[in-house]
Amino acid sequence: MDLERVLADTPIKLAYFNHLAASIPPLPVVEEVNRYFDSVLAEGSASPFTEPECYRRREEARTLLARLVGAADPSEIAFTSCGSDALALVAGGLDWRPGDAIVTSELEFVSSYANWWWAARRFNLGLRLARGRPPGAVDLDHLASLLTTRTRLVALSLLPNSLGTLQPVADAARLAHSAGALFLLNACPGVGMVPLDVRLLGCDFLAGTGRKYLRGPTGTGFLYARRELMERLSPPGVGWNSGEWDYGTGEFRLARGGERFSTGEPAFPNLLGLGRALSYLEGLGGPEATWRRVRGLTARLLQGLRGIGGVTVYGPQGMEGRGAVVAFNVEGMQPAQVADALRREGTLIEAGDFLCPGPLRLFGVASVARFCLHYFNTEAQVDRALEQVASLASASGRPRG
Ligand SMILES: Cc1ncc(COP(=O)(O)O)c(C=O)c1O
Repeated sequence: MDLERVLADTPIKLAYFNHLAASIPPLPVVEEVNRYFDSVLAEGSASPFTEPECYRRREEARTLLARLVGAADPSEIAFTSCGSDALALVAGGLDWRPGDAIVTSELEFVSSYANWWWAARRFNLGLRLARGRPPGAVDLDHLASLLTTRTRLVALSLLPNSLGTLQPVADAARLAHSAGALFLLNACPGVGMVPLDVRLLGCDFLAGTGRKYLRGPTGTGFLYARRELMERLSPPGVGWNSGEWDYGTGEFRLARGGERFSTGEPAFPNLLGLGRALSYLEGLGGPEATWRRVRGLTARLLQGLRGIGGVTVYGPQGMEGRGAVVAFNVEGMQPAQVADALRREGTLIEAGDFLCPGPLRLFGVASVARFCLHYFNTEAQVDRALEQVASLASASGRPRG
């Protein structure tokens, strides 16, 4: 990865470690969005040049997303305005039958849990939660024991955003399929961070968001659905972009692919920005290159934190089974105090339960401070952050080693 170029494209002064809340788009993405508004100022948004060009670029973004997740065809991708919306398209749009059941886990973020809970309530479905176990992965034996012939969907997140433990999604997908159920991967926290291939992992659906590890603009998300499943999803609403009106017969025919979820005028600035974020990522070597770099940075941080007396790191103690996320606490301090103190020193992390309390309960804590690492973080930023944490730990009076 060309780190010099990457750093020049991200001229942020802070050491920013909050990519799971939202990362920072690189300059080419910002410029792309600005170019859209420049062209609107020059020609108007529905001009014969601007509009077809925007549609063309939107389809390019769809193709890039399809390639990113290993979809067979771009029509397997629907654009949404965030990851939660992508989950909601499945929760609200699958052809549920009364008595169907959903299996998810107690390690989920609220947007996942709430969507499955809401679908269960609306459509009279069963909802079962597989247990988690230290160091923060779903217990596959327990998950398997919850599957029945009525299970229609197994839905898991790639990693809990409060902890960072990578989930055994390929194994969970295999279990789901062997029970005759579909498998949905909520990849919002990890798309762009780790390589993902829907066919290798066995995903029937994959939900993603644009503003985190893809570094796209806020207001972007997407749903991958296997072609025949996309065609079985009912959109929550339709409009002039969702399909074709046969004025003669009065019939409205929904588009067959992901376009059925477009209603009216697309959010072009966001979509063009997302497209540029995707081509930027491809240019750097894709998620494979990101994963190589963030693994190294995360290992450095992890090792350093584990060597500081009074610091507890949660989740896997090495890189095996861990994403680019480290949740920790400093003895004698509230997590929010740790985050505040680091912010005053120019290191931005966040603290809390991240609306994902289940994984933290496995360790008997209600909240943590959390580092998320991206490829444009540097070794120097990690080392500085470690010094800052060490100095907090020693000032809190319980240095141990
Ligand atoms: C696990 C998980 N799922 C879903 C989401 C929702 O993403 P969005 O805000 O794009 O709806 C998040 C965001 O934090 C997340 O961490």
